[in-house]
Amino acid sequence: MCGIIGYVGSRPALPILIEGLRRLEYRGYDSAGVALIDHGQLKVTKSAGRLSVLEQMLDFEADPTTGIGHTRWATHGAPTDVNAHPQQDASGNIAVIHNGIIENDRALRTYLERQGVVFRSETDTEVLAQLIGRFYEGNLEQAVRQALHDVSGAYAIAVVCSQEPNVIVAARKGSPLLIGIGKGENLLASDAAAILAHTTQVVYLGDGEMAHITPQHVRMTTLDAIPVTKNVEEIEWSLSEIELAGYEHFMLKEIHEQPASLETCLRGRIDLREGAVHLGGLRDCTRELTRAKRIILTACGTAWHAALVGKYMFEELIRTPTETEYASEFRYRNPVIDDGTLVIAVSQSGETADTLAALAEAKQRGALTLGVVNVVGSSIARETDAGVYLHVGPEIGVASTKAFTGQVAVLALMACYLGRRKHLSPAACTQFLTALNQIPDQIRQILQHEEEARAVAERYCEKENWLYLGRGYNYPVALEGALKLKEISYIHAEGLPAAEMKHGPIALINEGMPVVVVATAGTQYEKIISNIQQVKARGGSVIAVATEGDREIKRLAEHVLYVPDTLEPLQPLLAVIPLQLIAYHAAVLRGCNVDKPRNLAKSVTVE
Ligand code: F6R
Repeated sequence: MCGIIGYVGSRPALPILIEGLRRLEYRGYDSAGVALIDHGQLKVTKSAGRLSVLEQMLDFEADPTTGIGHTRWATHGAPTDVNAHPQQDASGNIAVIHNGIIENDRALRTYLERQGVVFRSETDTEVLAQLIGRFYEGNLEQAVRQALHDVSGAYAIAVVCSQEPNVIVAARKGSPLLIGIGKGENLLASDAAAILAHTTQVVYLGDGEMAHITPQHVRMTTLDAIPVTKNVEEIEWSLSEIELAGYEHFMLKEIHEQPASLETCLRGRIDLREGAVHLGGLRDCTRELTRAKRIILTACGTAWHAALVGKYMFEELIRTPTETEYASEFRYRNPVIDDGTLVIAVSQSGETADTLAALAEAKQRGALTLGVVNVVGSSIARETDAGVYLHVGPEIGVASTKAFTGQVAVLALMACYLGRRKHLSPAACTQFLTALNQIPDQIRQILQHEEEARAVAERYCEKENWLYLGRGYNYPVALEGALKLKEISYIHAEGLPAAEMKHGPIALINEGMPVVVVATAGTQYEKIISNIQQVKARGGSVIAVATEGDREIKRLAEHVLYVPDTLEPLQPLLAVIPLQLIAYHAAVLRGCNVDKPRNLAKSVTVE
């Protein structure tokens, strides 16, 4: 995922841009660059590789007060110096940074080449810069507007021009962009983290909107120049939340934040006396929600695993048929949806391209749509009919941890909220909510045993193949444990419903293969014990996650990581914690870059 930062004001822009780019690093990138307007001259500096490479090329003594900066994640063209952003027009007076994909770039490139334009890079962004340059007649905003009328695809862009030294023109369609409002200065970013050190007052640019930004003013219009009025909103996150605070990695910090992040997520939403859940975001559509005949939870990756837990909870507590579907599949098949279908998009970032497209598909077919989202003001939050925020704070580590537990907790609240309006008794709700309320403290207890998870990681981190098994509510936990391990330590790991093992994967098990079995107490306990025996019979080394007090499992498994007892639907919130810790420590022990795993970006805003 690329990152955008822009600054216009009276302070030197460069340190602000570099600091912003550093805060965007977590999203993943392969090159970076800045454009500054220095005494009427456009100065572009860019380079493939790390931000530190770019920093060495820059003159921090310079005092330009207008500039834009970019971290690129290559889509069109290899990650080279030439392909890095900013891209310029032929005159060299205009610079563009861009997140997204211009879909008709081939046709535009051919058209411009016929007009004599010579391209330097392979990027779709240069096509846009050249197009803006062709239209430029002394009014940057006008030139950008004309160019965007010829463009199809997704974009968030920031454009500067040496002839208009105190102006940034920005526009968005399908890629996030927000404007930070300061005093005598304004900022622009693709992610609130980039500007949080300077302001918490933001305006979210909507799809098909443009902004003309100067130190004193922000003027917003549609692409057709119709003025747009927007509310200034306050970012809830604090600077300390996006800093390491003494932890070695964001992932570890976020694993340890889970007791507190879940407390915030649950705060004010649970009424134990009444056995009721308060979800302000659902108030206006509760009647339609309870009438839903079918629910589809759509998401990607870790969010999909949380959605799978949600499916089990919804069917048990609401008794409404529920499916979980990968957003990337849902968007392209011909799903049966009618006005009795409720589609819930689950997403940390609220910007995942596949999930957004699935949502658009659902809306177009007449479904009522909800969002279960962490980032306030994100695209999914804005495009759903209603929703519930996670409120777990910013998640910076590429491997999702606290968002997973936040998603499961919110889905649990929703299950109780809707179940209560159908057939769940107040007493049953109180029992469920009491258990949910205890989860943060129970996670605190599990985290005290981090050393045991680390010891497992140490013992097996050289093994290149792991299996994760679970049944019922613990099946999504097995999937999530395997995903965590593979994405940050590059160990091959497969998650399976334990009973499926005998239909093929059991052939993989050989002497000493680590097999993580999520075997907490519950309705399928006896079954999972027999799965453990099958693994042992083939020489596999069983690492069990079990409920405190379970002695039997100690006799069977090589290692047992205990979690406190809770209701079965809530077990994923506890059982996942040791698995997050195993993955984290295995990656560290293998010398992997935990917060920036290879080939991955935090937020997947392209297909
Ligand atoms: C894995 C991970 C990804 C995301 C997925 C969806 O650790 O982070 O699998 O869960 O890309 O992202 P969001 O939740 O932002 O839609």
